[in-house]
Amino acid sequence: TRPLKVALLGCGVVGSEVARIMTTHADDLAARIGAPVELAGVAVRRPQKVREGIPAELVTTDATALVKRGDIDVVVEVIGGIEPARTLITTAFEHGASVVSANKALLAEDGATLYAAAERHGRDLYFEAAVAGAIPLIRPLRESLAGDKVNRVLGIVNGTTNFILDKMERTGAGYTEALDEATALGYAEADPTADVEGFDAAAKAAILAGIAFHTRVRLDDVHREGLTEVTSADMASAQRMGCTVKLLAICERAADGRSVTARVHPAMIPLSHPLASVREAYNAVFVEAEAAGRLMFYGPGAGGAPTASAVLGDLVAVCRNKLAEATGPGESAYTQLPVSPMGEV
Ligand code: NDP
Ligand code: HSE
Repeated sequence: TRPLKVALLGCGVVGSEVARIMTTHADDLAARIGAPVELAGVAVRRPQKVREGIPAELVTTDATALVKRGDIDVVVEVIGGIEPARTLITTAFEHGASVVSANKALLAEDGATLYAAAERHGRDLYFEAAVAGAIPLIRPLRESLAGDKVNRVLGIVNGTTNFILDKMERTGAGYTEALDEATALGYAEADPTADVEGFDAAAKAAILAGIAFHTRVRLDDVHREGLTEVTSADMASAQRMGCTVKLLAICERAADGRSVTARVHPAMIPLSHPLASVREAYNAVFVEAEAAGRLMFYGPGAGGAPTASAVLGDLVAVCRNKLAEATGPGESAYTQLPVSPMGEV
């Protein structure tokens, strides 16, 4: 069987782990897919940077030429941001590739363009890594719960802010020190404002609400308050009341089913609640569905290897689809429901 060719766009915290696992687990991946996967090119900004395990001849600064080659089966986009990521993804679809992306900012800003391009060209768009790192959440919502009715998705979806709050509370670390540590560990976004101001969690809430409630929700629809609103006095008074502070994303379907709400804000959580014991950069998400009841998803929500795990899972799924000359679930039929930031529910 001919090898499936993979173009890796971005080789930073996540991309370098994707490349490492693709190399070290090559035989297992080939066995699971039914064909070998070959790293055909790696696009970066700084080609001179030493990248362990990546043959120099695969490295390019011309991501556009890489996705236009025409022989690429799957493009893995782990550059981040809106452009050039959006154009690279749509160009990849045009030139015969399916796409795996971890880019929540882009999906929440303009997922509609990506879905439409994937559908127009008959390609896959998978993005498990975009929400909650290693935790399987997108595919359970898109596939396992597709026959149920999800009414609520609620939880901690940003690892950096959880790490900061946890460090401050448990070790007495200062805010800046805790943020620097989260950045050094590869949890924070390239611009950590996205984490601490709640944009990253709001993007994830938009993606989750859209998939869970079969509608379209964009970043701008989500009410957002970040961590920077929380003072040490707030944290101390939460402690006095037997609570802790967590940054929550809350997505709900209105009781009459005619609208949805999506919001991100710090909240006081009683210490007895499972969310209170979510430490470091872990995430935890409750999904409430009519028939299933209450489900809890928990695990590492950020970092190179955990995120690469989700990317690799998508890569296997997309490669299998490719060999079967099929595509996985795209954007399911949706009804555009009004999105109110806080709602009445
Ligand atoms: P990094 O900043 O570590 O890596 C970004 C990579 O993209 C770098 O290799 C950089 O090149 C490359 N790059 C940037 N611009 C271009 C360009 N124009 N052309 C080619 N290459 C480019 O980011 P992360 O790996 O942390 O994040 C990547 C994506 O994954 C983002 O969408 C992020 O939101 C998402 N994500 C990250 C998680 C995490 O825990 N870090 C978790 C879940 C999702 P160079 O190396 O030369 O600078
Ligand atoms: N910066 C993000 C976080 C990465 O801290 O959750 C994972 O999406």
